[in-house]
Amino acid sequence: MHNRFYVTTPIYYVNAEPHIGHLYTTVLADFLTRFYRLRGYDAFFLTGTDEHGDKIARAAAERGREPQEYADRISAVFRETWRDIGIGFDDFIRTSEPRHRRVVQAILQRVYDAGDIYFSSYGGHYCVGCERFYTEKEMVDGKCPDHDRPLEFVQEENYFFRMSKYQGWLAEHINTHPDFIRPERYRNEVLSILNNEVLEDLCISRPKTRLQWGIPLPFDERYVTYVWFDALINYISALGFPDDSRFKTYWPAAQHLIAKDIVKPHGIFWPTMLKAAGIEPYRNLNVHGYWKMEDAKMSKSLGNVVGPRDLIARFGNDQIRYFFLREMTFGLDAKFTEDAVINRINYDLANDLGNLVKRSFAMTQKYFAGRVPARSSADDAGRGELAALLKASADEYSAAVERCQFSVGLERLWEFVRALNRYIDERKPWALAKEPGSPALASVMRNLLESIHALAVLLAPVCVDGSAKILAGLGRGDTVVAIDTLFSLDCLADGQAITDPGILYPRIEREETPAVSPEKENKPVNTEQDGLLDIGDFAKVDIRVAKVLTAERIEGSDKLLELRVDSGLDERTIIAGIAQHYEPAYLVGKKILLVANLKPAVLFKRTSNGMLLAAKKDKKDAPVLIEVDDRIPVGARLS
Ligand code: ME8
Ligand code: MG
Repeated sequence: MHNRFYVTTPIYYVNAEPHIGHLYTTVLADFLTRFYRLRGYDAFFLTGTDEHGDKIARAAAERGREPQEYADRISAVFRETWRDIGIGFDDFIRTSEPRHRRVVQAILQRVYDAGDIYFSSYGGHYCVGCERFYTEKEMVDGKCPDHDRPLEFVQEENYFFRMSKYQGWLAEHINTHPDFIRPERYRNEVLSILNNEVLEDLCISRPKTRLQWGIPLPFDERYVTYVWFDALINYISALGFPDDSRFKTYWPAAQHLIAKDIVKPHGIFWPTMLKAAGIEPYRNLNVHGYWKMEDAKMSKSLGNVVGPRDLIARFGNDQIRYFFLREMTFGLDAKFTEDAVINRINYDLANDLGNLVKRSFAMTQKYFAGRVPARSSADDAGRGELAALLKASADEYSAAVERCQFSVGLERLWEFVRALNRYIDERKPWALAKEPGSPALASVMRNLLESIHALAVLLAPVCVDGSAKILAGLGRGDTVVAIDTLFSLDCLADGQAITDPGILYPRIEREETPAVSPEKENKPVNTEQDGLLDIGDFAKVDIRVAKVLTAERIEGSDKLLELRVDSGLDERTIIAGIAQHYEPAYLVGKKILLVANLKPAVLFKRTSNGMLLAAKKDKKDAPVLIEVDDRIPVGARLS
């Protein structure tokens, strides 16, 4: 009997194209699938698209399309994006497919027959964006707290799912299955709802007079199903519930991956729906935080969201996978900045891992003509210690991944990577090579190559391409090994020819910006003889409202502050000479005027990309910062 693993991503709404957030959850699912397969599990990975409901119907209408035609197009974009970047999903479910509709209707009928769906009248404040009703208590000034849009008051007859009936059962289930929802903060979030509120029954229908784009209720053709009741069922419709062997095989091993935005439907609606339909609950709900796009270039508000393909084209597939897994503490929000991505690539991948591989292959080439040396029995060069270290790191990595603590897991593995670099520095193969016939040299190199082989196998689910290159370089491209066999550091064959895999992860150079040259700086602007400025010359200066995000003193300078500002174009650093007059903390959050198109200047090894405006009456006066009225938005240009 195989161990089984079934992982799902949310099915994404087709009212927007794939973005970094979608990519993250999908990469996690892909990583986990590869991770468990490597450990001999029979794994199944499901993703797909959520296509019904008001939101989609309106998005289609705005583009003058039929909902189905529109959904076909965007759904294909998701599917092809994942395919093209090597995401190995096993099935892609669309809620507009007949196989899905059949199961949704079967579940509705079941729950209806069991008496848990009833007909009643309801009035409430409805948000199209959220596809739900808000209570008086939840709304803010008559608006949706999420979308800041006016709610529509809707009074109508609808069908309701008796969710309240299962409140006690669900609380009990969560209490007796401590990791049912993880990490703990989200379990607590759900428990606090269950313990402190009375669950209302869930309105699960929409009259066709108001919405046609949905699955009709099997017991009343005048209505379609509420989109969440429809969407959640994808996790079992794709498995061919109830009769398909896929359902029987994988459902007991179900692991859902979602972000914190959709905890309530997954943590409350879904388990109670399953219970009412007589189906076992999923095994775990794994909830991650949000990527915060700090860099305005990557933020949605500008409308030019960086798509998954752009991101991967720019940095590389392995690089983004590694960054995602290593940078985010699972469950918490994390910042997505170009700087953070480049640091992970340069430090962890290019430096730690890349150098280890490069040095080891180069020395094998040099000292052993590119062949795996046999270990010397006279001196094994600390093989036992290395093997123990590898096993400890690998076990902690696996255990952390099983708890969804990906960043912890990779850090453990990197402890081994760094230990190997130290091993090279301490054992100094280049010095050993000078002692003719040194028994240690062959053992050192063999230990290194075996360790790199083990790393390449362990890292294959993360660094898909790099790992394959290393294994091919070691002449092990076609070999599948069990994880346990790695720890003996004895997988390679004596005398095997190896070939340099080349540079796995090139360093990314940050764009160097030249210092301003003094002559240019002081060059007078084009003025007429009367000393007045042409309007066209003034228009060349881009002065805009920017917001100070962070402010810090620069060590070694008493005049300068380093500010990070949001210019509405981007997030950038400027160096300002106001340290003697302003406390950094005072500046944070302030809106200022920024000269945004100055040539960059380098000061104290930092590049200043612009200048803030301050004024003073007299040369000896303290400069007073020009602060901007909060009503003027960031990015607004002076004109
Ligand atoms: O909610 N950071 O679909 P959706 C991390 N159709 N992950 C993010 C993210 C961010 N900034 N933004 C989005 C829906 N995500 C429903 C789901 S499931 C039965 C129905 C990811 O297109 C994350 O996985 O709004 C989040 O839960 C999901 O996209 C929401 O995708
Ligand atoms: Mg959403």
